[in-house]
Amino acid sequence: MISRREMLAGFSGLVVGGAANAILLSAKGNASSSAPHFWPPRRLDPLECARVAYQGYWEENGGCGFAVFKGMIGMMGIKYGAPYDTFPLWMMSYAAGGIASWGTVCGALNCAAAAYGLFYGKKQQQPLIDSLFSWYEKEELPQFVPEEPVVTMDLKRTVTKSVLCHASLSCWSYETGHKVSSKECRERCSRVAADVTHRAVEILNAVIRGEPPQVTLSQAQQGCAQCHSSGKEADCSRTKMDCNFCHQGTLSNKSVNHPK
Ligand code: HEC
Ligand code: HEC
Repeated sequence: MISRREMLAGFSGLVVGGAANAILLSAKGNASSSAPHFWPPRRLDPLECARVAYQGYWEENGGCGFAVFKGMIGMMGIKYGAPYDTFPLWMMSYAAGGIASWGTVCGALNCAAAAYGLFYGKKQQQPLIDSLFSWYEKEELPQFVPEEPVVTMDLKRTVTKSVLCHASLSCWSYETGHKVSSKECRERCSRVAADVTHRAVEILNAVIRGEPPQVTLSQAQQGCAQCHSSGKEADCSRTKMDCNFCHQGTLSNKSVNHPK
């Protein structure tokens, strides 16, 4: 535990520190350094980007998030140069396995959303992210078929059901019998990364053309949100995920009800 005295000392240390002082000042609205600054979005060829993403997945073990970012921003760098070619793409490797194997948000989705964040402010990004995430939840993946697969196999598709890496991946692994640590499973994720890149670029292209993104939230989400959303009678949940996937009672108590 940090004592109140230590906390105060730490805090005042921050205020007098030169660099920290500058950050505090800019957070207060020093317009020149803290004003939102976005890169112009560019149209790309979705299939070309998907192919780059597929290969990116396997490059130095970059994983799904790096793959998607390379497929989108790396590709913009190749086609349009600066500022896109200045981005340190490798930072996106953190997203693999739903962030360092925590199984939270699918890394491919995470990094596509991050790419949108380079071009649009928080309010404008939302419809693009909604469109991508709601598509992913319902889609049978993977669909991308590489010309030169790293692992040659007849890959079974499953509905991902959830934007969570854990659920999406575990359902696929359980249904197909391929271990999560297998090469086959990585092949699946590399193709899913290509699918997400393809879709993310399609959505971006459409928005650049001036078309609003298509969003179809689950029926459960729409129904539950009539009461469980901002300003409604049970404003105690914030998510756009499909509620039924977890709240329907199908996920039984495995501490009690488990195969012996
Ligand atoms: C007609 C309004 C309404 C709708 C529609 C609705 N809820 Fe609720 N829900 C409530 C209210 C009111 C509570 C109680 C909140 C409280 O205690 O403060 C509640 C409580 C809950 C709780 C916590 C209590 C418990 O039983 O576990 C969960 C979880 C929940 N709702 C999930 C859902 C889901 C999932 C849906 C859609 C399938 C849904 N709700 C649809 C009004 C609604
Ligand atoms: C990925 C799984 C998942 C999804 C999808 C999900 N929830 Fe939950 N939700 C949970 C978990 C886990 C808790 C914590 C439950 C607990 O502690 O008993 C929770 C808690 C809640 C609670 C607080 C009451 C309680 O039972 O603790 C409400 C209300 C709720 N969820 C509503 C919703 C609604 C509405 C949706 C869809 C818009 C939704 N949830 C989607 C997993 C999910």
